[in-house]
Formats: sequence, structure tokens, C-alpha cells
Amino acid sequence: MTELRSSCSQDSGAHGGYEAGRIFTSHFNRLALDPSTPERVEVLDTTLRDGEQTPGVALSIDDKVRIAQLLDELGVDVIEAGFPRTSKGEQEAIRRIASLGLKAKVCGLARCSREDVDSAVDSGVDYVHAFIATSEAHMKHKLKMTREQVKARAVDAVEYARSRGVTVEFSCEDGTRTDLDFLKGMHIAVQEAGVHKINLPDTVGTMSPAAMEYLVAEVMKVTKVPLSIHCHDDFGLAVANSLAAVRKGARQVHVCVNGLGERAGNAALEEVVMGLLALLNVRTNIDTRKLGVTCRSVARMTGIPIPDTKAIVGNNAFAHESGIHVHGVLSDPSTYEALSPELVGMQRNIVMGKHSGAHSVKEKLAEYGVSLPEGMLSTVVEKVKSLAESGKEVDDAELVALALHIQGQAEKERQHVKLKEFAVFTGMNITPTSTVAIEVDGKQVRSSNVGIGPVDAALNAIRTAVSENISLVEYKLNAITGGSDALCEVTVKMRMNDDQKVMSVGKSIGSDIVLTSVDAAMGAIDRLLARHRE
Ligand code: KIV
Ligand code: ZN
Repeated sequence: MTELRSSCSQDSGAHGGYEAGRIFTSHFNRLALDPSTPERVEVLDTTLRDGEQTPGVALSIDDKVRIAQLLDELGVDVIEAGFPRTSKGEQEAIRRIASLGLKAKVCGLARCSREDVDSAVDSGVDYVHAFIATSEAHMKHKLKMTREQVKARAVDAVEYARSRGVTVEFSCEDGTRTDLDFLKGMHIAVQEAGVHKINLPDTVGTMSPAAMEYLVAEVMKVTKVPLSIHCHDDFGLAVANSLAAVRKGARQVHVCVNGLGERAGNAALEEVVMGLLALLNVRTNIDTRKLGVTCRSVARMTGIPIPDTKAIVGNNAFAHESGIHVHGVLSDPSTYEALSPELVGMQRNIVMGKHSGAHSVKEKLAEYGVSLPEGMLSTVVEKVKSLAESGKEVDDAELVALALHIQGQAEKERQHVKLKEFAVFTGMNITPTSTVAIEVDGKQVRSSNVGIGPVDAALNAIRTAVSENISLVEYKLNAITGGSDALCEVTVKMRMNDDQKVMSVGKSIGSDIVLTSVDAAMGAIDRLLARHRE
């Protein structure tokens, strides 16, 4: 759990009252605080239910179990594990999740029918989320039921679920397009039936934050059990609407990791949690430092990538390109960061582009142990800008290669390692094996090793010959031209003795992937040895 605030109302410092050095939000947030806002809210994650309704997402039972474990480790209070009545596979997944003994409560979704409630309870959950639509459009066109029938079904389902000994949450589906008096009447009726929590779904994401504040304030007049909020993102306002609801008294938020969910998705867990904490001073049980890894794992398992510009966990969320920004961030991160990346398990990244300045280039090169005199630095900066303007992305390895080239080192003969012999054997049903003879500081060493493929075998043999303490950090292969005779460009990044401060890059271009990889690795190792023997 992340403990950040001392007292929001006391501190009038520049950082908005939160622990300085971590969150740097506007002090106006404090001026806009509302007395109805709770200090803490619960998080119900529905990635495994509404999130799995994302078009194109179908999770295996093992993936669902793994995601449930990740959510539990993250600190989610309730995991909506699925909609048991939909299939036997769904029931099996929920049963496995419910039997994990998680700290979080495990919830199953149910329509307002005894069969659905039984299906959920018999899947082993300790929490049932029952729902029925209450807007005129849904009652008329979908349910073909009157208001009285809908209310009776809701009351019966809540009473029945209570009688089965589970925690019961109830939702008026399409609640935000429901007649206000009827909505309030539904809340009163299900409370009399013994419901534990009531959720207010913005099913089609049609609310503005101002409308949400109005509605929640109205509904709170009759809702005595904790109110929950469930927002969809059809207008890109799911997070803003969730925060608006909490501002007016909602005590639980329904969210999905990465904003997965039906159509445009649900409110994103990572954004809601950080927005609550940083902007409204509301805590949750979420361990915010695990957000980055959790979101990336869910992206991998669902096959829905995180957009680069996504708030909190996108690749660019803590990336700085322009010289002005990089200069500012390096002097004091509060200049251009709303919160420290490590607080959400992310890292600051300085990227090269047409707005890069000397500060960015110098800082980035320093990460790789390369330092250039002023004159050469400005040549590199100019080169980076002109490459970026012509549409070429300059990555770390290219920047280092460019700098070394300009420094005249790239052309130098290798000082420490020279490849004398090299062979690799590969084929079908044999383990790829490579043999090398390398002159290491004047002494000839022979070695052979195996690998998953010929490149892996070759790199393993080289590392065995030179030093077992050398580790491969990254291997990148790019085809420079099209076709089967394409030239390839290989970039290899290596470290020695797990030393996080020193990384060496080797780059090579050639027509044979294995030989080019070997050449790139030899270059990286040569520089690595030079740095460690300085
Ligand atoms: O969006 C919605 O209304 C839902 C209900 C099942 C609560 O997901
Ligand atoms: Zn929904």
C-alpha cells in the first residue's frame, strides 16, 4: 500500500500537499476538494469480466488465474472473476480463482435470476454482483418488462443471494440513463432486501463529470450502503467520471487494467488509482509500484498493447524528448513530471528526436559511459536532429554508434578480442552448436557451446571463451532492405558482472545473420573489456 499524504488540507506547498519528490500536481486540486469525498475507496477490478468482453480478447483459464493472482498482489479488494452462467469454462476458471485463497474477495456476475445466482455461488465465489437494466430503452427493447417487474426481480435476486450467504452488490444497468425517481426507488428497494453495496453503472459512457457529480449527490440521498461506480469510456471520460463520483461520495470504483472493457473500455485501474491519490487525495489498497509490471503482463496476456501515449504506464508516460524538457527534468523532475516514475513502477526515459538538445544527448550517452567534448557533442546533436527530421528514429544503440563513429573510435581496430575461427552447426533434430577460437588479450582461447538457434549458440560460445560473467542485455535484428537477400543490422547490448552502470553496445551490418551477430557481439565485448580494464 502506498502511503503518500499527510494532510491535504494543511500543506500549501508547491507540490500540492503530497510527499515532495513524488507527486507534483497542481495546488488548485486542494482548493477544489469536497467534504463528501471519502478518505479511502475500495477497488473492484473487472478485467476478468468486463475486460474479457473487450473485442478480440479471450483468455485461457490459466491466464485468468494468473491475472487474478497479479490483481491480488496489486492489492485489489474485489476481483470480478467472470460471469459464471455464460459457460462451463467460465465456471471452471472462477472455481479455480475462488480456490486460490486470495486476500481479495472473488465475485461472480449474475443477472437477477435464481439460476444465475446459484451458478455464481456454486462456482465458489464469496461475492455476487447482480444486475438488471432500469433505463426505459433497456426495459422496453431488451427486457420487455415493466418497472414493477424489474424491481420485483431485483428484490428477489438480492434476497435469494443473501440467503445463500454471500456478499451482494447490485447494479441498475444503464443507471445513468434511468429516470431519477425510479433509480432512487430501486436503490431503496434493494437496500430493504438486504444488499451490501450498490453500484451505479454508466453503461454506455454517456455522462459528463459534472452530470456524474449531480447524479451521485442525488443518489447518495437515499443510498445508505456503500455506493460504487462503474464507468465506460465512450467519450474518453471514464476516469474523470469515476473521480467525479468519488468526489461526491462513491466508496468503490469498478475498473479494468489498461482500460480494457466493452467497446471503448472501462475506467483504467492505473489511471483511476493514481488520479484518486494524486488529485483527490483518496487512498486505495493498491501497491502503486506494481502498476507498471501488472499492466504490461495483462497487455501481454490479452494481446491488447498499451498505447505509447497511455497515461501512467505508456512507453512515453515518462519519456522526454525536447531539449527544454530534458534540461528541466534533469535539474528537477517536478518541472515536467506529474509524479515520479518509480512510484508507478516505471522508468524515466530520455529519447532522441528532432527536438533533442545537448543535455539530452549528453545524458543519454553518459548512460552508456560515452562522454564527448563539446565540439563533438554538438556534431552528434545536429546529426540526431537531421536524421529525426528525415523520419529516422534514433535509438540508444544508434546514438552510441553515431557518437563513437564521430569520436573516431568505431573505426579503431579491436584491442582486446580478435576472432580467429568460427563455425556453427545447425539443422533439423540436432542441437545448434558453435565453436570459436578467439584471441583474448593476445592469448588464444577455444570454446564451444550450444543454443536455441545458431545465433544463440554462437553468442554462447563467444561468451564462454571470453568470460562467463558477460551477459547479453539485448539483441536486436533489423532488416534494412526487403527480400530474402536483405541486409540485416544487428545490435547487441552487453554487461559484465551484472554492473548496471556500464553497458556496452556493438553494432554490425551484413548479409549473414549469424556472422553479423558474431561481429556485433565481438564489438560489444571489446568495448566492455576496454571499459573494465581502464
Ligand atoms: O456496464 C455495465 O452496465 C455492466 C453491468 C453488468 C454492471 O457492466
Ligand atoms: Zn460494464
